[in-house]
Amino acid sequence: MTQHLKGENLKAGVISLGSKSSKWTADAMRNYFDEVDEINIKDVEVNIGSKNEKILVDGKQLDNYDCIYLKGSFKYANLLRAVATELHKDVYIPYEPKAFTIAHDKLFTQLELEKENIPMPKTYLAATVDAAKKILEKVTYPIIMKLPTGTQGKGVMVADSYAAASSMLDTLNALKQPFLIQEYIETNSTDVRLFVVGEKVVASMKRKSQGEDKRANIHAGGVGEAFEPDNYMKKIAIQSAKLVGAEIAGIDILESIKGPVVIEANLSPGLQGITESTNINVADKIAKYLYEKTLEKKNSRDKNGKKQMMDDLGIKPAESASGQQIITSLDFRAERILLPPVVTNITKFKENEEYLVEATPGKLKIEKLNIKVT
Ligand SMILES: Nc1ncnc2c1ncn2[C@@H]1O[C@H](COP(=O)(O)OP(=O)(O)O)[C@@H](O)[C@H]1O
Ligand SMILES: [Mg+2]
Repeated sequence: MTQHLKGENLKAGVISLGSKSSKWTADAMRNYFDEVDEINIKDVEVNIGSKNEKILVDGKQLDNYDCIYLKGSFKYANLLRAVATELHKDVYIPYEPKAFTIAHDKLFTQLELEKENIPMPKTYLAATVDAAKKILEKVTYPIIMKLPTGTQGKGVMVADSYAAASSMLDTLNALKQPFLIQEYIETNSTDVRLFVVGEKVVASMKRKSQGEDKRANIHAGGVGEAFEPDNYMKKIAIQSAKLVGAEIAGIDILESIKGPVVIEANLSPGLQGITESTNINVADKIAKYLYEKTLEKKNSRDKNGKKQMMDDLGIKPAESASGQQIITSLDFRAERILLPPVVTNITKFKENEEYLVEATPGKLKIEKLNIKVT
């Protein structure tokens, strides 16, 4: 089932609430990474503006990782964004920092998706209760009222009439709870979840709510079955993930009579439902992807690191047939010639070895002799 690709000495961390899905993913990652630590997000603290100890876990500085997989509910959106911002330059993280605040808010998500004309249900927003009531007078019923940060179907309400919608609105207003008014999409109480990993949809399911409930979420009692999306649906799911800044996301889509509409991007999609209904080892798909991307980042970082070092020294490298050419000035210490550290790095010259130095006016050649000095 899984390949063992260890040996690159890569270390990963999973920062999450320790859900079953997070544990599955961490376990799957152990088939690829040499070390995988599970860190509870509740133990994480970010010190913005400090030089060294920017991220603490249980009061101690976070270890060095090659990859960090960040998961958590909307409650932790700001913390996750801060962690991703502090780390993403050096550590591979499958999200842009902004992803956490965008995807954990359905309004911000829609505003991002609109940039590329991703099809979505019509959504209304108003500044005052009176303005919202004016909208409710014009719309057709049923209508959806939705909390922008709700999850697992908990923030979704269906109003069958103006009277119902208007009283919901008063309640939401009394609770100072922001909300969206959204066109109701008739789908026979189903939705589809496309699981995006990188540039691919790795698994998809259709969920159907049970009984009278309109919400198809598994957590709201919905039942999932494997589903095969067409290329167009896959395309908008992959695009949606990209627009919110996520390389791993569960994209929720409603199949309207006019075609698919995206309702949500989930950064921390549950694995149980999709794994059971599709028989696809989604945790392994995630783990393998994380490993490959981490390796890619590490390799380019090593290359860039060398280049940065040369840049810092004002050295311009040029490729030649026999090796790397370097244009540099020379340092002299008491008539001895000092070469830049990058030369030591490339040549791998060591102190306890012997060298043949061939010097002529205007030219210097140093070659390692294969004799060890003891
Ligand atoms: N505009 C809509 N029209 C019809 N049903 C909807 C609409 N929006 C949401 N739903 C139903 O409610 C469920 C939850 O909505 P969603 O936006 O995905 O929020 P959550 O974060 O709670 O999953 C959906 O899976 C779908 O079944
Ligand atoms: Mg959803």
